[in-house]
Amino acid sequence: MNLADIKQLHIELTDKCQAACPMCPRNFHGGKTRDFIRNQDISLEQFKEWFPKDFLAQLNNFYSCGNYGDPCFAKDCLEIYEYVRQCNPTARMGIHTNGGMRNTEWWARLAVAMGKNSDVIFAVDGFKGKHELYRKNTNFDKVIENMQSFIKAGGTAHVDSLIFAHNEDETEELEKYLKDMGVDKINFVSTTRFYDMERFEVQDNSGDTEYYIYPPTKHKREPTKHLDEFLDPVARKQFINASIIDPKCINSNEIYVNANGDMFPCCWIAANYVEEPIEETITLHTLRNINVEDSKAVMKDIGIPNVEDGVLHKDSELWPKLKNYWAGKNNCMTCALQCSNLVYESKGRYD
Ligand SMILES: C[S@@+](CC[C@H](N)C(=O)[O-])C[C@H]1O[C@@H](n2cnc3c(N)ncnc32)[C@H](O)[C@@H]1O
Ligand code: SF4
Ligand code: SF4
Repeated sequence: MNLADIKQLHIELTDKCQAACPMCPRNFHGGKTRDFIRNQDISLEQFKEWFPKDFLAQLNNFYSCGNYGDPCFAKDCLEIYEYVRQCNPTARMGIHTNGGMRNTEWWARLAVAMGKNSDVIFAVDGFKGKHELYRKNTNFDKVIENMQSFIKAGGTAHVDSLIFAHNEDETEELEKYLKDMGVDKINFVSTTRFYDMERFEVQDNSGDTEYYIYPPTKHKREPTKHLDEFLDPVARKQFINASIIDPKCINSNEIYVNANGDMFPCCWIAANYVEEPIEETITLHTLRNINVEDSKAVMKDIGIPNVEDGVLHKDSELWPKLKNYWAGKNNCMTCALQCSNLVYESKGRYD
């Protein structure tokens, strides 16, 4: 994979967010923000320095989602989208957001800045009252108001809606409501983040239990292995090394840049770069810590450049050593989890 072949840029414009979704790694179970979060964002000035015009012009897809923040919180989000559009009149531009920040005027301006062939993917996880059980600290009415303003100004709105036990009975009604409003596409997502757990605790900022969320009864994604099966180091190594990795990074000609300017082959591996050990109260946390350690060692070996150092200003081969971690003997745990059938069957494993 060479830089000159890159066609898609996934960027984390910020790691700031007002929400506290219980399964988002920026917080602990919907409560306290994790200590490694820096609340930083990429400014327009930095963006112009880091991403040369000819690099932006070669892209066919520019989108921001990120691991730890909401792009629409980045102070120069709108200005950065205007700039990318100037440099590249045809690329698809996208934003994944909870949509609950800023005012209607800002959302109308965003629709104009993005222009045709672009879309914003709003998170709407049920109707008012249900939505906020997962999208903690957002307000359903405000999200809808912002989305309506975006659509009215000519923007294409999509919705990704997470299904849980508490909202699974209203998906049809929600789909109709959103379609009537002009939403172009609605994608219901059954999260894989419960793994084999029956419920997930939601905490407040002091670490006290507020309530639990439960997977949907009708569409739960069942893993092929129990989490506990990964605790034994010998068994874990066997599972990981036996997995057949189909690297999405190679097939998609994509790179990921986080809010600190670090550049990676994908957002999944990037999620382990800045993360610090999590308090181990459930098996999921223990395995998360093992995965972070394993992936940090891989990244140390393959090298993680920072775009601040001018890496995008000249062509080069990207991560030539990465393929050594897909060869069986030494498989990377993140690559096996995300790009093989290790825990979930192939359908939708990239969710
Ligand atoms: C960290 S968020 C960043 C973008 C933005 N803040 C948002 O939430 O849309 C990255 C992605 O994770 C998704 N997400 C959050 N919780 C999830 C869950 N439990 N299962 C699957 N995806 C989830 C978000 O909807 C978003 O698409
Ligand atoms: S809105 Fe996105 S970034 Fe914010 S807490 Fe939820 S999943 Fe995380
Ligand atoms: S998880 Fe590994 S194989 Fe999959 S896209 Fe990321 S770097 Fe490539």
